[in-house]
Amino acid sequence: MKTALTDRFGLSHPIIQAPMAGTSTPALAAAVSNAGALGSISIGSVDAVQAGYQIRALKALTSRPVNVNVFCHAPEPRDEARDHAWIEALRPLFTRFHAVPPASLSDIYASFIGDDAKLAVLLEERPAAVSFHFGLPQAEQITALKAAGITLIATATTPAEAHAAEAAGIDMVVAQGVEAGGHRGVFDPADDPRFATLPLTRLLARQLSIPVIAAGGIMDGAGIAAALALGASGAQLGTAFVSTLESAANDAYRAALAGPRAFRTEVSAVISGRPARGLANDFMRKAPEAALTAYPRAYDIGKALNTAASAHGDDGYAAQWAGQAAPLSRTLPAADLVAALAEELDDALNHLSRLK
Ligand SMILES: Cc1cc2nc3c(=O)[nH]c(=O)nc-3n(C[C@H](O)[C@H](O)[C@H](O)COP(=O)(O)O)c2cc1C
Repeated sequence: MKTALTDRFGLSHPIIQAPMAGTSTPALAAAVSNAGALGSISIGSVDAVQAGYQIRALKALTSRPVNVNVFCHAPEPRDEARDHAWIEALRPLFTRFHAVPPASLSDIYASFIGDDAKLAVLLEERPAAVSFHFGLPQAEQITALKAAGITLIATATTPAEAHAAEAAGIDMVVAQGVEAGGHRGVFDPADDPRFATLPLTRLLARQLSIPVIAAGGIMDGAGIAAALALGASGAQLGTAFVSTLESAANDAYRAALAGPRAFRTEVSAVISGRPARGLANDFMRKAPEAALTAYPRAYDIGKALNTAASAHGDDGYAAQWAGQAAPLSRTLPAADLVAALAEELDDALNHLSRLK
């Protein structure tokens, strides 16, 4: 299989294992890269020191190309009154678990924009690829990373975001449809037309001159074949890798993916302050979204509420991110999943050619 993605990184399969902050691990990414696809970790939720540890842990497990992901959200000015309103809105849910909400909220995840320490770590460690979620980095960050020989990948949820990425000098775009598990990479959540994977991938493949990677609702080789048929150079799969043995997903998350709850996912912003698709739960149903404060301060209290609920054996407030095709999840080692995806992709392409 030869595509712009496999060519660029010397891969055997046109597959990226999605970076998943808190869920992907160096062991997962290494297993995927060693199996001939592109493994990823996200350093979006950790500081520069932790980022360095994680990248070095990954490099110790594989000498194959890897992708390291950062968050480029536009920092929102702190608004104490808005934070306070959200704390009070969630207080009754904390009370239910005999807990009190935090008195104030923190920006728990710093944006990569302006983060010189994280840029220095990436320039030092030089992963084959760096990918961006929620927006684009600064022009000087792009220049520095490219000068270090790093391939740059950005998530786009609309043609406008994809064109902005191409114009900024990004090398590849991930076309993330609304079916996708996890946070939507939308640059401005107030302006989200919610393109689905199929139309978005097709539009970008037609309009861009850089490679497009399809993401959202792809769980098997047939889905990857569909992405290639649309003109994509590969597919990025997140949910499919959550249930692999090497992910950091806990038992409750794994059990939910394997059971009937996997059939109902929803995009909601209440857990973190930004729209994200996950298994539908009490947090999404009961939190009064109108009072929601900004990402990532909302995520600070969202995590505290989950901790309080979990202490009482209730996992209805956990961030169990998952895409719409979550019922197709399988539990197996990541290398076996990559091998299965490659075989299914072959089968799907043969099936299509027999239809002629
Ligand atoms: C548990 C989970 C965590 C995610 N975290 C990130 C992240 O940290 N950075 C990122 O760029 N994308 C993240 N995503 C989104 C993926 O990059 C990708 O767009 C999505 O998984 C594709 O849809 P699928 O889950 O249906 O395969 C996450 C997805 C999941 C399921």
